[in-house]
Amino acid sequence: MPDSNVKQVKAPSENLHARIRPEMSEQSIAWRGKGMSPDNLRRIRKALLTLHTLETMAVEIYRFQITREDSELNRYLIIAMCNEMTHIQDFQVKLFEYGFRPTPLRWAYWVVGFVFGFTSRIRGHRAILKTGVWVESKAVHHYGQLLNAADWDHDTRAVIERDRFDEHGHIERWQTLLDELG
Ligand SMILES: [Fe+2]
Ligand SMILES: [Fe+2]
Repeated sequence: MPDSNVKQVKAPSENLHARIRPEMSEQSIAWRGKGMSPDNLRRIRKALLTLHTLETMAVEIYRFQITREDSELNRYLIIAMCNEMTHIQDFQVKLFEYGFRPTPLRWAYWVVGFVFGFTSRIRGHRAILKTGVWVESKAVHHYGQLLNAADWDHDTRAVIERDRFDEHGHIERWQTLLDELG
């Protein structure tokens, strides 16, 4: 019976759904930038490209820090990677809403992320956590600068502030695990 098959598919929990894959509708997307000065649009484009490429780097760092070991650290690294993937999603959407495009040069940030991720992984847990704290602290600093670098529309500013809050959470997580290592 096809109906019973359908019933076996459970809906994802609200939280997971909202966090990882927000439900999108036509209303979720807005064309942005109308009435803004060319100078402000130029600053917005530069900032969004920076955020998009930094998040690309962050995903790659965590991706290459993860090992096959069943450990608390690996579970948190996978969570962090997933969280950074949602940040890429946020800024890629905003770029397109403004009529911009991601930079074709973002592969360079992929390479930098690989180097940071892989070299810290082979140096062990402490190096992984220290790299996390260092990179996330730089990210929070950048976020602060970029929030002031342009006159943002309300929605985009809210996204940047929310993602910056996530980065604070990452710093706290890595610092706590570092402290536990002693
Ligand atoms: Fe991020
Ligand atoms: Fe982060």
